Amino acid sequence: MKINHSNIKKAKKYLDKNYCIGVPTETVYGLAANAYSNIAVKKIFRLKKRPKTNPLIVHYLDIDSLKKDCLINNDFIKLYKEFSPGPITYILKLKKGSNISKYVTNKSKNLAVRFPKHKALKSLLKLLNYPLAAPSANISTRVSAVQATDVKEEFGSKVKYILDGGKCNVGLESTIVKLVGKPCILRLGGLDNTKIQRVLGYKITINTASNKIITPGQSRLHYSPGIPLKMNIVKPKKNQAFILIKERKIKLDNYFYLSKKCDLNEAAKNLYSCLRKIKNKGYKSIAVEKIPNKGLGKTINDRLNRASSY
Ligand code: TXA
Ligand code: MG
Repeated sequence: MKINHSNIKKAKKYLDKNYCIGVPTETVYGLAANAYSNIAVKKIFRLKKRPKTNPLIVHYLDIDSLKKDCLINNDFIKLYKEFSPGPITYILKLKKGSNISKYVTNKSKNLAVRFPKHKALKSLLKLLNYPLAAPSANISTRVSAVQATDVKEEFGSKVKYILDGGKCNVGLESTIVKLVGKPCILRLGGLDNTKIQRVLGYKITINTASNKIITPGQSRLHYSPGIPLKMNIVKPKKNQAFILIKERKIKLDNYFYLSKKCDLNEAAKNLYSCLRKIKNKGYKSIAVEKIPNKGLGKTINDRLNRASSY
């Protein structure tokens, strides 16, 4: 999608006035506001119906703009050089005296930071003299938005402006890696965690268990399409929507294909729009065939597993 500079200026105008707006990222759309402004950040929580205890990710253009807000370490530099901008979020120590609104972190001393790759969002960040706090642009616990129309569907006219950047390339939220204390992965996401391990050069624990919640996004009620969902199904029930990883010759109304040839990246990109479409078509339940548990398949299974606890 071509960048429309007048839209980017418009987005800046709303943000400068402390409004929340929809912004595209390569993972999912964000509901963005000035991370240095208490007024703006409070609006995000209100609009999303998000518990105040659930901290937000702050989006920066680059490492230079981050340095006044966070302490950085060697692991961070290694990962940043390899994967940023891209679908990875780092948990770092907040610097004393940083301007980040206290509402962003729920008074925690750590901050989640990300460097988005989407061209339109990068152009916008370049124009701003503050970073953007942005959770996924969906009502709390629901499926994330992967195109501008999804954001509209979630918030209607309550969101004053949506910067349309086309459909998100990755389609799943970023991978969250905690780099304070003993490093660990807090959320599987759009970057395969084995790649992170390779760059760090040591085994990193995955701490996404729902019984020990560090990140509220680990809670089981997240990513719900709002109707029951069952995984690893071979044959769906009558009138049930059936999601398949690989296209087949059969063309039935209730069959929804995630990819042509079992491509897990393509499937990741299509997953949330598929869930949204099924819900909007009025289906009352969803069956999903077994998804290979490798690469982004692990993240897809993580999200489906949480969605299945509805
Ligand atoms: O791809 C993404 O990460 C998208 C795009 C918009 O950047 N954002 C996103 O934000 O998924 P959100 O708010 O839906 O999920 C962020 C997760 C939440 O589960 C939150 O609890 C966790 O990050 N988080 C934020 N700050 C944290 C912190 N200081 N410590 C631990 N977890 C944190
Ligand atoms: Mg979210």
